[in-house]
Amino acid sequence: MGASMGKTISETMFDRIAASEELPTIPGVALDVLAMAKRANVSLPDIADVVGRDPALAAKILRLANSSFFGVSAKTGTVTQALVRLGLRASLSVVLGFSILPKLARAGRQSTDMRLIWNMSLLSSVSAKVIEERTRGRFMEEAFTGALLQDLGMLAMVAAAPEHYVDVLKTVERDSAAEVHEVEEVMLGVNHMEIGVYLLGMWNVPDQIVGPIGGHHRPDTVRPSGYDDYRLARVLQASDAVSRLICYGPTHANVLRCVRLFADYFCWPPTFVVSFVRDLTPSIRQVAQLLSIEVSDDLMERLDRVTSLNSEDSDVWKEALRLTGAEATAGPDAETLQ
Ligand SMILES: [Fe+2]
Repeated sequence: MGASMGKTISETMFDRIAASEELPTIPGVALDVLAMAKRANVSLPDIADVVGRDPALAAKILRLANSSFFGVSAKTGTVTQALVRLGLRASLSVVLGFSILPKLARAGRQSTDMRLIWNMSLLSSVSAKVIEERTRGRFMEEAFTGALLQDLGMLAMVAAAPEHYVDVLKTVERDSAAEVHEVEEVMLGVNHMEIGVYLLGMWNVPDQIVGPIGGHHRPDTVRPSGYDDYRLARVLQASDAVSRLICYGPTHANVLRCVRLFADYFCWPPTFVVSFVRDLTPSIRQVAQLLSIEVSDDLMERLDRVTSLNSEDSDVWKEALRLTGAEATAGPDAETLQ
């Protein structure tokens, strides 16, 4: 794990990522869209013209904009209408996500570590959308795509320098109280938010997408760019905690992390965590289909492990209730909070 030629591991990591052939390149259409978005007077029909040059990308955007996952009733038939429905920031995230993530997912089939992070990205995206839907309901598409992209830095490190990153994943699996970005900082001198920001900067991605992703484990550090970036970063952080709970299992620390964030950010009661995860299950299959990726049986088993948690016989809940200062009674079911 030593750095070469006197370089720190973090410098080596940036070099490896910059030179990596494992990382997919962004297609020209997506780069053109991102460059256009930097112009002050860009219009969605202009962006739709560029997206239309890539029929596969246009089809995916239409599929997402028309998806019942986002509660759409009237279908739209044109890319311009789809982009108008999604809004500029969500459209940019979708173009970026759909351009890069399927390629990463294909690469991920060969590696267990990649598959784990990719599963976490899928779970985070569904969680973030549902959190936004149940709280403010204004930026569901942004929450969805932001969460899908938030761990891009992890995927990049696994792809470019697996021998360095494997120790981070082992530590996080062994110690569920450890925060992944802090483990990365100690072991590698750089965290996945910084790597994500570096990659998004290399691709000329606008600040309104980069900001929340760059601070999703530390929302307090997010600088506003005109949108509600700080709050979106909180939604992303909470979604990340949910995906860790599911993927790494309902240990004491993983449950408490969710309970704390749910209480601090959204005033949700502790036992809401279980019903929240239960409600995600059908959407996960739907979103996987939307993104043309397979959901493994293993992931479904992990969901079951959380949803079968029983608040009656668990010390985790007593501790969670004590920590959040809530009454020692079960919270309302998810349905009553919708
Ligand atoms: Fe993360």
